[in-house]
Amino acid sequence: MTQARVEGGAARSVEVIAIDGPAGSGKSTTAQGVARALGFTHVESGAWYRAAALLALRRGLASESTVDGPAVAHAFETCLMEAAEARGTCQIRLDGEDVSAALRSPEVAALVSRVAAEPAVRHVVTERLRSLAGGLGLVMDGRDIGSVVFPEARLKVFLDASVEERARRRSAGDGRDVAPATLDRRDALDRGRAVAPLAVAPDAELIVADDLTLPQQVELVVRLYHEALTQRRA
Ligand code: CDP
Repeated sequence: MTQARVEGGAARSVEVIAIDGPAGSGKSTTAQGVARALGFTHVESGAWYRAAALLALRRGLASESTVDGPAVAHAFETCLMEAAEARGTCQIRLDGEDVSAALRSPEVAALVSRVAAEPAVRHVVTERLRSLAGGLGLVMDGRDIGSVVFPEARLKVFLDASVEERARRRSAGDGRDVAPATLDRRDALDRGRAVAPLAVAPDAELIVADDLTLPQQVELVVRLYHEALTQRRA
């Protein structure tokens, strides 16, 4: 079982499935489907970084060229963030305000990778993400879940697809056109940062999703999870 650290320094065992990958690969939708199939909780870790970016925007902690990492980390650490499933989508509240739509805004998307590259921000977000492990199990999607947040996860998946397919999926999902170059820019920042860059963990299952439908992606991850459980028993 994964030893997930929880707030207060205690440790408890919880099943974790980590789904990492670049923007628009369908990580969140896949993770949501897998969580539903297994009765696990789904956490979209990107929302935590987007919330930090939203705070940076609102409090003037980022300019065109700089991000005040320690100040953003402090702002994030001292805010109350709540996530709840509402009518099939995840609703995020920051200090009681529903910010779900604001987190998906182009302004937040343009800033989030620079905020997420700040070590102080990554530290506080990672601690909060680890504190969410509990219940029957957790499916968490992001960029560094298998490599940093839960390195002992039962199953690690890296979900990839060509940038054209990812832009197509993102445009279909968001209802507004997303250019491949926009995704490419964010991926380059996420892959190139010094701390916890986007990379395939050595023990991750790589899924290239161009020719898979979302239900097929879910089915595949659930199958891989059952195989991982069987291997433990063997
Ligand atoms: O949904 P999409 O794949 O476009 O992005 P997201 O999962 O909402 O993540 C937004 C951004 O947060 C990413 O581009 C990363 O810069 C950052 N992030 C991260 O650094 N580490 C994570 N575990 C999750 C997200």
